[in-house]
Amino acid sequence: MHGFKELVKLFEERLLSVESLQKSPHNLYEPCRYLLGLGGKRVRPVLCLMGNELFSDIKEGAWHAAIGVELFHNFTLVHDDIMDEAPLRRGKETIHHKYGMTAGILSGDILCILAYEQLGYIKEALAQVLPLFTQTAAEVCDGQQMDMDFEQRSDVTIEEYLNMIALKTSVLLACSLKMGAYISGANEEEAQKVYEFGKNLGIAFQLQDDYLDAYGDPEKNGKQVGGDIKANKKTYLLLKAIENANPEQRIEIEELLASTGDDKVEKMLSLYDSCNAKQAAKDEMLKYSNLAFDNLATINVAEERKAPLRSLAEYLLQREK
Ligand code: IPE
Ligand code: IPE
Ligand code: MG
Ligand code: MG
Ligand code: MG
Repeated sequence: MHGFKELVKLFEERLLSVESLQKSPHNLYEPCRYLLGLGGKRVRPVLCLMGNELFSDIKEGAWHAAIGVELFHNFTLVHDDIMDEAPLRRGKETIHHKYGMTAGILSGDILCILAYEQLGYIKEALAQVLPLFTQTAAEVCDGQQMDMDFEQRSDVTIEEYLNMIALKTSVLLACSLKMGAYISGANEEEAQKVYEFGKNLGIAFQLQDDYLDAYGDPEKNGKQVGGDIKANKKTYLLLKAIENANPEQRIEIEELLASTGDDKVEKMLSLYDSCNAKQAAKDEMLKYSNLAFDNLATINVAEERKAPLRSLAEYLLQREK
């Protein structure tokens, strides 16, 4: 069995040498190599490999599933950065800023297509893996559309928010784990338990992503801090601040949502503080991470096989990027 760092290293050797990425036209593939070369935590491929290692040694197909899910994830990031008008990703310029909108659209497209190419190489449990991946990919689109729709709405509930982040983010973490489990030969019942672990972990993961967008250190986070506030994203922080606000604070929040002033981020952060949203977000994160650990406990394998997943989950919840 392998730990997080070891799996990242083994995975990156394979990812960065994928033949289909070494092609021309240069203006299509270079942006892909640029983004993939900037790193990222590689959480999803590692979850896939750990999902496999819960039940057996790593099968060849798990490497392809891991590469596939990381390519797909990077595709979603490229298009997400266009939709969110984000200038920075992984501490560097986003693709559409550096190379232009055509590159943003088309390099994103090819990453998605090459994700499916990788799935085609899987020999173990492809009949389970392929529909799972396809359904998940569609759910990510559903979640992304909801995220964008919510920017324009002022009546989003916390329940709707949690459903949206489950779709845009957590199902892909859950799918990564479940693909690994399927490929290892695990049965549906065990694979589903692994999925549930990933789903709750993924919700906690997106809560932390939202938290870092507001409170993170831009040097470490590698993204524009305050981007969610600027875009009127309906994050847990904002929804909780609205819920806890007194009538005056509520009016202030509404005014800020309508504003595009330079002090919008700073003023919203101080409202989050006075409405106790920061602590509430941390509490919610803890709630979902505890649910994830409960799910992990139900999986029927020796405790030592779960250790890498447990420490990965712990790292993710106190990460700074
Ligand atoms: C960012 O994902 C997008 C979300 C779903 C929150 P990651 O935080 O996994 O991004 P990288 O791959 O490590 O850069
Ligand atoms: C991203 O959510 C989810 C997907 C890319 C599918 P965010 O928009 O919060 O992700 P970041 O913060 O830009 O990485
Ligand atoms: Mg987004
Ligand atoms: Mg974004
Ligand atoms: Mg974010």
